[in-house]
Amino acid sequence: MKLLVAGGAGFIGSNFVRHALTRWPGSSITVFDKLTYAGNLENLEGVLDDPRVTFVQGDICSPSSVSAAVPRHSHIINFAAESHVDRSILEPDAFVKTDIEGTRILLEAAKGANVERYLQVSTDEVYGHIPAPQRINEDGPLRPRSPYAASKAGGDLLVNAYHATYNVPTLVTRGANTYGPYQYPEKLIPLFITNCLEHLPLPVYGDGMQARDWLFVKDHCNGIGTVLERGQLGETYNLGASHEWLNRDVVDAILERSGADPSLVRHVHDRPGHDRRYALDTSKARALGWTIETTFEDGLAQTVDWYEDHRDWWKRIKEGSFKDFYAAQYDRRLAESLP
Ligand code: NAD
Ligand code: DAU
Repeated sequence: MKLLVAGGAGFIGSNFVRHALTRWPGSSITVFDKLTYAGNLENLEGVLDDPRVTFVQGDICSPSSVSAAVPRHSHIINFAAESHVDRSILEPDAFVKTDIEGTRILLEAAKGANVERYLQVSTDEVYGHIPAPQRINEDGPLRPRSPYAASKAGGDLLVNAYHATYNVPTLVTRGANTYGPYQYPEKLIPLFITNCLEHLPLPVYGDGMQARDWLFVKDHCNGIGTVLERGQLGETYNLGASHEWLNRDVVDAILERSGADPSLVRHVHDRPGHDRRYALDTSKARALGWTIETTFEDGLAQTVDWYEDHRDWWKRIKEGSFKDFYAAQYDRRLAESLP
């Protein structure tokens, strides 16, 4: 297999490159990544020395870079995206550009290059809020409510259109909230773990009663690998762990594992359009033989330990441009934090 991994220097992409080298030892992998604020070659430490891996710095929104990179690959996986909901609320432009237009440019190149399989990594956020006790399957309506979710939904629709119109051999996975090593510390779990380790406040949006389905990154990568191998072309597969936890309880678990002081918790103004609950029906992916191997308790313990052991990695990030985002996102919220 000659695999092109777009966005392979980000959180899930870099974990997937490691997974792919073990799962398909005879494969060669091109990591194609723009290295935005979220892309980091340190995420590929130890991997870039592997003779099976090549790194290309490139932008999926650039037709010339993409059409130079795609030929000679049998399989393409697209992780490349702007991925953080809060940033999409502050500045939506890059989300529409990368998550929709970038996807179209990759699909065009795949169409012309006779690839065997193109897999689009998408998200459960495209379904929007799911009222309890419902779980949504792949035929459920798309009701995205943030600029991020709407852009990802646009990408999914283009993928399906390229399959129907041009017979591009596509697959889509819609993953749940993912956590684990190498996650950029803007998302709930790594932000709160690193804030605990620095004795900084933990800004919980609203009442903290929102529910998410937490998927350990190794299980997510295994799910993507399974769909790439065995998924039916043109189909979409939900990937979730059915580990439904309220944010409030996730925060308590982080506090307990990191030994931080519970008085760090602050309830702050809510995220606009905040979805209360995500919950996936994953029977279609499980029918391919995919299973979850990590409990939320084990995955969270491994993740807290990883951030404790990799302080240089996240401190370098938090001391860079991250500071400007943090100030824009949290300074006012924390100053006005609710009782
Ligand atoms: P991330 O933000 O950590 O990484 C994104 C990567 O894409 C970075 O390496 C970045 O440099 C690269 N990138 C961004 N724009 C690019 C462009 N124009 N051209 C080339 N590379 C570009 O994201 P992540 O959390 O690893 O998410 C990866 C994918 O999985 C995304 O498509 C996201 O929507 C999806 N997803 C994420 C989660 C989650 O909980 N993190 C869950 C489900 C699905
Ligand atoms: O569900 C899959 C999605 O999960 C992915 O598609 C996205 O790329 C990924 O960012 C993630 O989106 P969320 O918005 O659910 O994740 P986030 O970590 O930002 O937030 C998780 C929950 O925690 C959500 O209810 C908002 C809340 N939260 C988050 C932050 C960053 C807080 O209460 N405080 C915070 O500071």
